[in-house]
Amino acid sequence: MNQITPPPKIEIIPSSAPFSEAQRSWLNGFFAGLLSDAPTPLSAEQGAAVMEEVDDGAPWHDQTMPISDRMKLAEGRPLRRRMMAAMAQQDCGQCGYNCNDYSDAIAGKSEARLNLCVPGGKETARMLKSLYEELDKAPAAPAAVAAPAAAAAPAAVGEPGRSRDNPAPAKFLGRTLLNKGKSEKETWHIDFDLSGCGLDYVVGDSFGIFARNDLGHVDQIIALLGASHMTKVRDKTLREVLLDDVSLAPAPDSLFELVSYLTGGAQREKARALAQGEDPDGDAATLDVMAVLQKFSNVRPHPEAFIEALEPLQPRLYSISSSHNATPGKLSLTVDCVRYVINKRKRLGLASTFLAERINPGDEVKVYVQKAHGFALPEDPKIPIIMIGPGTGIAPFRAFLHDRRATGAPGKNWLFFGHQRSDCDFFYQDELNAMKTSGLLTRLSLAWSRDGDKKFYVQDRMREVGREVWTWLAEGANVYICGDAKRMAKDVERALVDIVAQFGARSTDEAVLFVAELKKKGRFQQDVY
Ligand SMILES: Cc1cc2nc3c(=O)[nH]c(=O)nc-3n(C[C@H](O)[C@H](O)[C@H](O)COP(=O)(O)OP(=O)(O)OC[C@H]3O[C@@H](n4cnc5c(N)ncnc54)[C@H](O)[C@@H]3O)c2cc1C
Ligand SMILES: NC(=O)c1ccc[n+]([C@@H]2O[C@H](COP(=O)([O-])OP(=O)(O)OC[C@H]3O[C@@H](n4cnc5c(N)ncnc54)[C@H](OP(=O)(O)O)[C@@H]3O)[C@@H](O)[C@H]2O)c1
Repeated sequence: MNQITPPPKIEIIPSSAPFSEAQRSWLNGFFAGLLSDAPTPLSAEQGAAVMEEVDDGAPWHDQTMPISDRMKLAEGRPLRRRMMAAMAQQDCGQCGYNCNDYSDAIAGKSEARLNLCVPGGKETARMLKSLYEELDKAPAAPAAVAAPAAAAAPAAVGEPGRSRDNPAPAKFLGRTLLNKGKSEKETWHIDFDLSGCGLDYVVGDSFGIFARNDLGHVDQIIALLGASHMTKVRDKTLREVLLDDVSLAPAPDSLFELVSYLTGGAQREKARALAQGEDPDGDAATLDVMAVLQKFSNVRPHPEAFIEALEPLQPRLYSISSSHNATPGKLSLTVDCVRYVINKRKRLGLASTFLAERINPGDEVKVYVQKAHGFALPEDPKIPIIMIGPGTGIAPFRAFLHDRRATGAPGKNWLFFGHQRSDCDFFYQDELNAMKTSGLLTRLSLAWSRDGDKKFYVQDRMREVGREVWTWLAEGANVYICGDAKRMAKDVERALVDIVAQFGARSTDEAVLFVAELKKKGRFQQDVY
């Protein structure tokens, strides 16, 4: 009787790689088959890269999840995946990429800037910095399974106005306040003329704005430095650099480091702690650049060292609220003005207040069009659309409606809009009512959160008309959400799941799958921030 000798067990995937026994065994077999020569065991990092080919989920891709949870979910994954988990998961495009491509670009060393994730802020920048330090130490992944080094690059840098790296000048035409009476909000309709720069766009795209800091704020900082605004820094005056080139908002770690070098004792310890992300006095979240100079008032950094310690000024994105097909050469935005007070000092959102008060008609602003990824009207103009956009979330939907009118698209259009109060926050009221009268807007459903005693949101209105929402879905409608990423988008999605379950006669699990499937097919799209 012949005895069958089992083949030698080949261990290519190390036991430290983050796989289950079954996965490790399958991968060992797979690579043993591929490699006829004696195999070299893969490192944990290489093994993890292999695993990605098998299981390339990104369970941390949830903008409501805190960074600590995201990093936990990414433990044991290749660096580029952990870098992705460090991003804010909004795919908002402010960095010029989406989260996945930005991390690929950093890991592939085609992008050296680690501070581009605006919604991730300092937490993301710190985490990326520490992951980046691992990059040089990590062995390269095997060629067959290497992470794609050539990440989707941002739009061609060469063409002006197509990327944040090469903005074009656009002419500011004017602004109109959209709130009335005693509104608690300050929201502006903003118009630009693009005819000079020749830029075009499609609805769904966003507009990048390079704003300038406030002159009064800049001069206060110069006074705190005890410097002259004419001091030369980087071939410009100190005032020009502070106005145009550097961020004066959250104080970067490098500023705390600089302060720690220039002071001693308890002050030095505090500055060091702040530089490491600690919060010795419980005020770290309130410290913008000026507040640091006030907190450490005995420190007067040299203007050049001070500027070196600051972050570059980042552009801001706004959903375009007009259609190039309807008004060629013109572009509109719908901008909520950010103003708040901390320790009796008024703080100004950089770009929103720039658009609201620091530019005049005829002024030129540096801008670019940020192409939307997965946020667009359906190619088939007959497909019905349901748009859910409370507050400034209405912006791209105004654009969609203008576009559908200009192109004569026959598909039905349903808008859910909501805001605080019907008498003062009903943006574009006359225009929307006229669209309803003309039949362009098949349905307009409104939700006013502060009109009654109890909060009432767009998703509450959706639930009220759930049967009709389901009918539209069953007819093949696309669904769109725009606006707040942190709470609204999730809550609206939950309402959609409930509607599918109730009116589509499905269990909750089936309804979740149904909505996930809508997303996969591009029938459920979001533009959230
Ligand atoms: C794809 C995309 C589309 C967008 N579309 C629009 C749009 O159509 N309309 C629109 O208005 N915005 C839109 N935004 C948001 C916009 O880009 C800016 O983030 C927003 O205008 C604030 O920018 P800012 O420069 O004025 O404020 P910043 O200088 O960036 O200040 C904002 C920061 O101030 C702090 N802050 C704000 N309020 C308070 C408070 N009460 N207390 C303490 N701290 C506070 C927070 O840290 C906040 O992050 C969009 C964003 C993205 C990514
Ligand atoms: N910190 C900042 O930088 C700052 C400041 C302002 C706005 N924002 C952001 O800027 C974006 C635009 O603001 P905006 O002016 O358009 O309006 P908004 O502040 O998002 O509010 C629009 C409407 O949505 C309601 N709303 C609040 N929570 C909701 C939820 N979970 N589900 C559904 N609706 C909800 C609001 O009601 P109530 O307010 O009555 O609850 C209001 O009626 C948002 O992303 C907002 O988070 C940021």
